[in-house]
Amino acid sequence: MICRQLTNPQCPQALHNQLLFFTNIYLLVRKSKEHLKDPKVITDFISLAYPWIKSLHVISVIAWMAGLFYLPRLFVHHVESTAVSGETEVLFQSMELKLLRVIMNPAMIAAWIFGLCLVFTPGIIDWTQVWPWTKAIAVLAMTLFHHWLALRRKDLLAGNNTVSGRHYRMMNEVPTILLVIIVISVIARPF
Ligand code: HEM
Repeated sequence: MICRQLTNPQCPQALHNQLLFFTNIYLLVRKSKEHLKDPKVITDFISLAYPWIKSLHVISVIAWMAGLFYLPRLFVHHVESTAVSGETEVLFQSMELKLLRVIMNPAMIAAWIFGLCLVFTPGIIDWTQVWPWTKAIAVLAMTLFHHWLALRRKDLLAGNNTVSGRHYRMMNEVPTILLVIIVISVIARPF
């Protein structure tokens, strides 16, 4: 009778089976460690993952941009709405909080993580060209704009807002301008 139960003490082959099991795991781990030491394996993996990482990058960027366009619009209505009091005020505050926490923050983090994975993919970026620098500057400006919006949300929540609706309307154009710079930098690459 062949006993397949690994931990059954009644089984005459239990010890033998256990030894075999752990030896196999050890060999597997050792083999994969040796594999991982080979830089070609890692480079191959990153290159294979490249189209998937780029897809995830673009998806997260779209979600982030949607929030960056919508939040200043919410601020305009929040500030200009004459009837802002009681329930309306609470509704605006809750919409702004959810947009920032549920969509914009995770989307920004994902865009950065996948974007940096692309940066470290061999052969993708040539830092002697101009486009990676224009893109990097515009992306940093976009991140600063995100943080500026997060601070204004806190002001609105605390009742300390000093920014007018007109100012928020003008600031609403900032992500559009940066988006144009980023997309032209990364796709048309005229410089
Ligand atoms: C958050 C930091 C970001 C980093 C580190 C980053 C980095 C990168 C890198 C390295 C690529 C690959 C370029 C290539 O394949 O030749 C890429 C692709 C792309 N990025 Fe970003 N990016 C960031 C944010 C953004 C933002 C904010 C936008 C849009 C507003 C954007 C739009 C795109 C697009 C559309 C592509 C695809 C371009 C193509 O077709 O090859 N990225 N990004």
